[in-house]
Amino acid sequence: MFSYRHGFHAGNFADVLKHHVQVEIISYLQKKEAPFDYIDTHAGAGLYRLQSDMAQKNQEYLNGIGKLFGDDALPALAPYLQLVAALNPEGGLRHYPGSPMVAAQLLRPQDKAWLFELHPSEVENLRRNLSGRHQCRVREEDGFVGLAALLPTRSRRALVLIDPPYEQKQDYQRVVSALALIHRKMATATVALWYPVVERARIDAMTRQIAASGIRRVELFELGICADSPGRGMTASGMIVVNPPWTLRAQMDSLLPQLAERLSGDGEAHFRCETLVGE
Ligand SMILES: C[S@@+](CC[C@H](N)C(=O)[O-])C[C@H]1O[C@@H](n2cnc3c(N)ncnc32)[C@H](O)[C@@H]1O
Repeated sequence: MFSYRHGFHAGNFADVLKHHVQVEIISYLQKKEAPFDYIDTHAGAGLYRLQSDMAQKNQEYLNGIGKLFGDDALPALAPYLQLVAALNPEGGLRHYPGSPMVAAQLLRPQDKAWLFELHPSEVENLRRNLSGRHQCRVREEDGFVGLAALLPTRSRRALVLIDPPYEQKQDYQRVVSALALIHRKMATATVALWYPVVERARIDAMTRQIAASGIRRVELFELGICADSPGRGMTASGMIVVNPPWTLRAQMDSLLPQLAERLSGDGEAHFRCETLVGE
C-alpha cells in the first residue's frame, strides 16, 4: 500500500504546475487580512533533496524546476520560483519544496495548515521538515477521511489540496467523492485537485463525473510533455480547481502554452485550459 514516494518525482513538470497553482491560490486568499485554513489531504515529506538517490534515480526534476530555476523568462512564475529560491539560500538548486512547505513558506500568523500523510517515514520526514512551524498540524491519518472533520473551517475560508498517488485505482473515485463532500460541507472552499494522465479514459470519466456533480465554478488546467500513449507512464498532469481566484484562468491561458513549449519532451507538448463548469 505504501510504495509511492514523492522523492522520486519532486520538482518534475507535474510539480511545477501543481505548486504554481497552489502559490497563486494562497496569494489570492491572502489579499484579505482574514485568516484561512490550508488542508493538504496527501502531504508527502514536505521537502526533498534533489541530490538524494531517490531524486537522482530518474532525475525527473531536470525536466521541471531544473529548466525554469534561475530564469525570468516567464514572469507569471516569479512568485513560485522565488519561493523555491528561498529554500536554496546557497544559490544552486539543491532543495525542492513539497506542497506543505510551499504553504508553510507563505502562511501568515493568522493562517493554519492541516497536513495528512499515511506513510510512516514520510510523516516522520514531514514533522522534521516542518518543526518549529507552529501554524502547521501534521496528522498521520487518511486525508480523505480526516478532511470531513475539518469542514466547514472556523475561518470560513479554505484551500483544500487533494494530491493522491493514484496507485490504487479507487483514488480516481475517492477524489470525486471528496469534491462532493467538500461541496456539501463548505461550498465556498477553493479545492485544487491534482491528476495524472496515465490512461486518458480514466481522466475523461473522472471529469465527466465532476461536471455532472452539481459543483459549480470548476476550471481545468493541464500540461502534457508528450502525446497520450498507454504504457508510456505519465504523459501529462492537470489541476482541477473549484472556486478558483478569478484571475487564474487568464493567467493560465497565457502561461500554459509557454510552459508547454519550455518543458516539451519530444515536441508533442500540449495543454488544456478549460471551464469544466461555469458560474
Ligand atoms: C503525490 S504524494 C504528495 C505530494 C505532495 N502533495 C506535494 O505536492 O509535495 C502523495 C502522498 O500521499 C500519501 N498517501 C497515500 N494515500 C494517502 C491517504 N489516504 N491519506 C493521506 N496520505 C496518503 C503517500 O504516502 C504520498 O506521500
